[in-house]
Amino acid sequence: MCGIIGLLSEHRDVVPELLDGLKRLEYRGYDSIGVATLNPNGELERRRTEGKLAALSKLLHRKPLSGFIGLGHTRWATHGAPSEINAHPHATPEAAIVHNGIIENFQEIKTRLLTEGRCFETQTDSEVVVHLVSQKIRQGLEPLAAVRETLPLLEGAFALVFLFAYHHDLLIGARRGSPLAIGFGENEMAIGSDALAIGPICRQLIYLEDGDLAVIRPGSVKIIDQQGLSAVRPRRISSVASLDLGKSGYRHFMLKEIYEQPQVIGDTLNTMINPVTGRLSLPNLPELKRTNRLTIVACGTASFAALIGKYWIEKLARLPVDVEVGSEFRYRDPVLAPGQAALFISQSGETADTLGALRLCRKMGQGILSIVNVPESTIARESNVLLSTVAGPEFGVASTKTFTAQLTLLAALALVLATHRGHLSEQQETHLIRALMEVPAICAEILANTGPMEALARELLAPARDVLYIGRGLSYPLALEGALKLKEISYIHAEGYAAGELKHGPIALVDENVPVIVVAPTDHLFSKTASNLAEVNARGGRTIFIGDKDGLAKISNLAGSLILPKIDPFVIPLVYAIPIQLLAYYAAVTKGTDVDQPRNLAKSVTVE
Ligand code: G6P
Repeated sequence: MCGIIGLLSEHRDVVPELLDGLKRLEYRGYDSIGVATLNPNGELERRRTEGKLAALSKLLHRKPLSGFIGLGHTRWATHGAPSEINAHPHATPEAAIVHNGIIENFQEIKTRLLTEGRCFETQTDSEVVVHLVSQKIRQGLEPLAAVRETLPLLEGAFALVFLFAYHHDLLIGARRGSPLAIGFGENEMAIGSDALAIGPICRQLIYLEDGDLAVIRPGSVKIIDQQGLSAVRPRRISSVASLDLGKSGYRHFMLKEIYEQPQVIGDTLNTMINPVTGRLSLPNLPELKRTNRLTIVACGTASFAALIGKYWIEKLARLPVDVEVGSEFRYRDPVLAPGQAALFISQSGETADTLGALRLCRKMGQGILSIVNVPESTIARESNVLLSTVAGPEFGVASTKTFTAQLTLLAALALVLATHRGHLSEQQETHLIRALMEVPAICAEILANTGPMEALARELLAPARDVLYIGRGLSYPLALEGALKLKEISYIHAEGYAAGELKHGPIALVDENVPVIVVAPTDHLFSKTASNLAEVNARGGRTIFIGDKDGLAKISNLAGSLILPKIDPFVIPLVYAIPIQLLAYYAAVTKGTDVDQPRNLAKSVTVE
């Protein structure tokens, strides 16, 4: 949550690049935004506003700002409403800061500082940091010493960047919990929340470790680790500079990312399939091979991928799997025997609750495996084995291509485990691998004709106030994901249920105004789901069927239907994810919501 960036140039105004970086950081939050620089006299100047980058650009047009050193911040509010006053950078005459995270003991610090006569202007937790550091500078400390005395006073998670009045050649960054990367450009140094923010201007990057403090000067960085010792972090070449970070002609990033799925699924499969033998291979995690239980932890869409993973792994590999959301798992004192394996699924690799759960599992002696889209992220780096979804950057806040890429890896993992545990013959494995390899082409076929999805979303979903999604077996987590996608981008209230659970309560909601989307591909549970659909129809409900021709022939009385190719039941989640995403997308477009940056949400959730 919140994107931060700092730039120090030896030769040019950094404000345009700060704005460029903020544009790439908006996925982390976009309710208010600001920049700060030093003017030629060395005084701090700021421009801040409620709203997004466009609002800041307008403000800068009216009240320009420039400088060779500066900070930028795009906010996802935690403490204090989104407003100009609460927008970062926070500043005093001595210093300015940008912060990502939460200072948990801010109230105590604030109360003490107020009694000491300091005046606060915001309702944020972050403002205490700039007051603490400024107080120490006024007492005569140099900036670095002031920061080093301030950090131990802070509880909670943070990535911080400090800029100091009259210090044209110094930025200080500090990391505890939230990520920070440092970039080396041509006559330019950068620091920011991720490689996307600073990668395009910096060919070389380093990632700070937890507890690191970085003193950035022209052409150099000095790192001090949490023991106070000088540390060296490996430099990596930034791959971001060569990436296409635009919309490539699509109206929204989300649509572009939906259309990238055939490629992404294919690329992810290619990382695991041996081209000579045609068999799957995955990195070796000894704990996974000998474990008698697998724990999977994730949040949001990734947790629904996890649930699908559970269905696959239990069915094929006969290995018990527990799936949990990070925020519950980490605080409920789970029982885990040492030597078992735990899997963490995260697009960003930075989700605070998933990361917290990972660290708990590590303490409890679990082998740590992760499925992550950002290989340099904290979760990726703290895992024993990383399975990378090679989906490329995902900008739409609602996950799409990373969901199907996670599913691809989970399907492969299920097959590898099943073979290793002796539950799958070579012939069965070959059959299922083939089914997986056909998925990109099937998805491309569906994407070539999205008219029916658009019409259905426009006519039946967009006007609705409430929508129910139901499904059984592998289609149940899809129903959960369908409902989540719809509510997050179209703001239509939607709930996903196991079709068999409908009669235990939700059926009371059914009337002619509530569309019920029934995900019912032809599989061993089809007739049971068809009965649930009939129960809805019998009560005057309006059912929308997503399935195949064979299924359609067996049911009647539909308000609408989407007919997909007949596929191997094993790959249902990968293929059916596409219409589910597109229904949400077109409903949102019809309603005119901000598809890529829906209200109140952020893509990378680095606070609890
Ligand atoms: C946020 C996003 C979701 C995402 C979830 C988990 O809530 O809006 O789309 O599924 O975080 O994120 P992760 O990066 O861990 O997959």
